[in-house]
Amino acid sequence: MPAQLVAVFNQKGGCAKTMTTMQLAGTLGMRGFKVLVVDMDRQGTSMIWSAQAEADDPFPAEVVSLAPLREKMIGELAKRAPLYDLVFIDCPPAIDSPIPWAALNVADLALIPVVPVMDNVWASREAKELALKARQENPALRAYYLASMVRRGRLFDLCLQELRNDADIPMLESYLSLRNAFAESQLYGAVVGSIAKKSPAALEADALADEVLALLAIKPKKPAVRAAQRGKSK
Ligand SMILES: Nc1ncnc2c1ncn2[C@@H]1O[C@H](COP(=O)(O)OP(=O)(O)OP(=O)(O)O)[C@@H](O)[C@H]1O
Ligand SMILES: [Mg+2]
Repeated sequence: MPAQLVAVFNQKGGCAKTMTTMQLAGTLGMRGFKVLVVDMDRQGTSMIWSAQAEADDPFPAEVVSLAPLREKMIGELAKRAPLYDLVFIDCPPAIDSPIPWAALNVADLALIPVVPVMDNVWASREAKELALKARQENPALRAYYLASMVRRGRLFDLCLQELRNDADIPMLESYLSLRNAFAESQLYGAVVGSIAKKSPAALEADALADEVLALLAIKPKKPAVRAAQRGKSK
């Protein structure tokens, strides 16, 4: 599978797996990379998100659902991955599902979005166990926490510190803050950078994309020029 595979997983519901997947995939797609999102969640949020885009301004990455195949998606992935530079796997929120395990067994990189609140930090331990177990089968796998929906305040700082103190799973330097622009981009079937290029949200998504490219040792491309700046949101 020549494409680099990134699994975005965490059994905790609502911690921004789909947000991370779609902002990364779309941001890199806008830069000229050929990107596939594999929606492995029966909720189909990635699929619905991309379907909101206008036909003349499609979501800048291809999105396909392989959720019905469950862990057997690996075979289909092996067929499709060579056609892309990067493949993101948006996993469902269930640790006992065979899907995250299957994804981690083929991934180059695993991202574990964690909201810096206590229940998410506690739940991240199960995600960590799964990543460490998968590394025994797939020694090339690298796993990182990604701070998501970050807010300012003592509790959030404490939780971030606890995650940073984890000796087994490092945390990415980049993060996504809680911002209306991220949620709003779903409405337009877009990513934050295509709505307002230099907005604080777009700068965060760009920094995350840069860090992921560096981890995968992929040379950055110049940002692609979009047909039109929509200017719908800040
Ligand atoms: N950085 C952010 N700023 C604002 N809203 C966000 C951010 N990240 C995620 N959200 C919102 O939080 C909710 C949960 O995010 P998302 O759907 O990405 O989580 P998930 O982990 O994929 O959930 P599930 O476990 O159901 O698959 C969504 O309504 C999303 O729009
Ligand atoms: Mg999701």
